[in-house]
Amino acid sequence: MGQRTVNISVMVSGGGSNLQALIDGAADGRLAGARIALVLSSRDGVRALERARLAGIPTAVVSKADHPDETEKAGAILAALAGKKTDLVVMAGYMSILDKRVCAAYAGRMINIHPALLPKYGGVGYYGLRVHQAVLEAGEPETGATVHYVDGKSVDSGEIILQGRVPVADGDTPESLQARVLEAEHRIIVEATAAVVRKLLSR
Ligand code: GAR
Repeated sequence: MGQRTVNISVMVSGGGSNLQALIDGAADGRLAGARIALVLSSRDGVRALERARLAGIPTAVVSKADHPDETEKAGAILAALAGKKTDLVVMAGYMSILDKRVCAAYAGRMINIHPALLPKYGGVGYYGLRVHQAVLEAGEPETGATVHYVDGKSVDSGEIILQGRVPVADGDTPESLQARVLEAEHRIIVEATAAVVRKLLSR
């Protein structure tokens, strides 16, 4: 890659607990060779931005409200990522569908975490609590989380990097399941990001 440090930009929309796992992983050495250069949010005022500020990480907000035109919004996202010399994009709870131009610009260098065992319960409409609700309604014995490359072909498609499995318990609610899946997410998002960082550094 011609450089020693991989610049990661993390894209968020809400609570940012996966972002926090990455911040912690960068601090304790599990993300050796990388640093979080930017946290880019699709919404202002979210806790993820506060977590970034507390960790001293630069932030940017590119919202639909400020950028109603999709092409212009994609341009603003690309400019923010380029401004921090982004090598790797990690979508960690990013709840907006990313324009194909952005996906194409970071092909092989953009990953996403999804709170289900893809290809199950992925795609348009499956996000946040809705995923866990669908898993319970289907009577699944287990669920989990997936980190995958973003290929931009459709929502939640792309080569799988890592999955974490979580058994469904009697009496689980969407909220209780979400909490246990999140624990698995926090583990695999750091492991998967570290694996991609190593891959980029070996290029
Ligand atoms: C996580 O469960 C993540 O997998 C999910 O949103 C949550 C964000 O939590 N992402 C999606 O549903 C994307 N399709 P966090 O903000 O606390 O990391």
